Amino acid sequence: MVEKTVGVAVTGLGFVGGQAHVPAVKKIEGAKLIAVIDVVEELAKNVASKYDVKYYTDFNKALKDPKIEALIIAVPTPFHYNLASEAIAHGKHVLCEIPLTPNVADAYKLKDQARKAGVILIPDLNFHFVPNYVKVKELIDQGAIGEPIAVTFSESIAAKDLQVQWPAGSWAWKAEKSGGYPDFTLSQWGIDLIRWLVGREIEEVEWMCNYAPLEGFEKFTGYNTVGIVRFSNEAVGTLHYSSTVVRGEGTSRLEVLGNNTKTIRANWNNSLTLTAESETEKKTWNFDAEARGTRAWGHRQIDQHFVNCVLCKEKQVITVDDAIKVQSIARKMVKK
Ligand SMILES: NC(=O)c1ccc[n+]([C@@H]2O[C@H](COP(=O)([O-])OP(=O)(O)OC[C@H]3O[C@@H](n4cnc5c(N)ncnc54)[C@H](O)[C@@H]3O)[C@@H](O)[C@H]2O)c1
Repeated sequence: MVEKTVGVAVTGLGFVGGQAHVPAVKKIEGAKLIAVIDVVEELAKNVASKYDVKYYTDFNKALKDPKIEALIIAVPTPFHYNLASEAIAHGKHVLCEIPLTPNVADAYKLKDQARKAGVILIPDLNFHFVPNYVKVKELIDQGAIGEPIAVTFSESIAAKDLQVQWPAGSWAWKAEKSGGYPDFTLSQWGIDLIRWLVGREIEEVEWMCNYAPLEGFEKFTGYNTVGIVRFSNEAVGTLHYSSTVVRGEGTSRLEVLGNNTKTIRANWNNSLTLTAESETEKKTWNFDAEARGTRAWGHRQIDQHFVNCVLCKEKQVITVDDAIKVQSIARKMVKK
């Protein structure tokens, strides 16, 4: 029996679409990369030729391609709503980047539209699939730390890298286009991560944000954004996002503290420790092999999950409601 495959196209071939989703889709099971789409023709042509697929510069023309059944939308946030809405109207399944839309009202509209159209709409909350975070969740669910009662997460990106990705004046720095500044956008995966790990909703959050001009950078401010959260079960947490470090120092750290006095500590996306009273009891896991290429940050796994949902092989584990909750928490850092 021939297994059904899903025809997929990726639109937006920048940092996330071009470097993560396109190579990921080429590797996943049950999917066939049909086309790549970008308004910049040179870019679309180059990516298409590298992966031996066709390209479109006009999204609406791509929507008329019957071979494209599912779309991964990785264009800048201000265009998510229109593209996702058009795709759904054409009966295509959609995996859309985060934030889904600059404001939650439009995210609710997409949710409703997808439900009525009977298509899958998955927000790209890819931290659910990062190998060492998956292990953290497994350990928590096994009771390794008892009940999680506190969590801390910090994530930094090098100022020079952020400046290349999202220069001053780009859409990512305009709240009306992206919903907030880059800290608003980049905080969302970590917020989602701690909700998922603790297994409770965040009921309260207090943000303090510092935006500082950086030495050696023109017209470019760095952010240090700190949040304190309280979950519905009284567990507490802190979040720290920074873009004021040098290249090579961009990293993330996660600690989940349990009521049995043990702690799970994850460094970046490749290692994990479960603490114990003695060195011999302490357990460490290394994910170097899994934390490579498009699997490193879960893009390949979430694209696989998306395709499996389209093929009815898996039940959707991340919903638009998750994206809306996460975004509502992040939004509180944005000054009116
Ligand atoms: N999941 C993640 O790990 C992750 C990380 C960072 C950012 N993001 C999100 O991914 C999205 C894209 O961010 P990025 O940094 O890759 O952006 P980018 O600016 O690097 O790339 C966007 C691409 O989309 C193209 N584009 C613009 N309008 C288009 C249209 N109408 N049709 C087709 N192509 C169009 C641009 O030409 C560009 O090539 C944003 O929503 C961002 O918040 C996701």
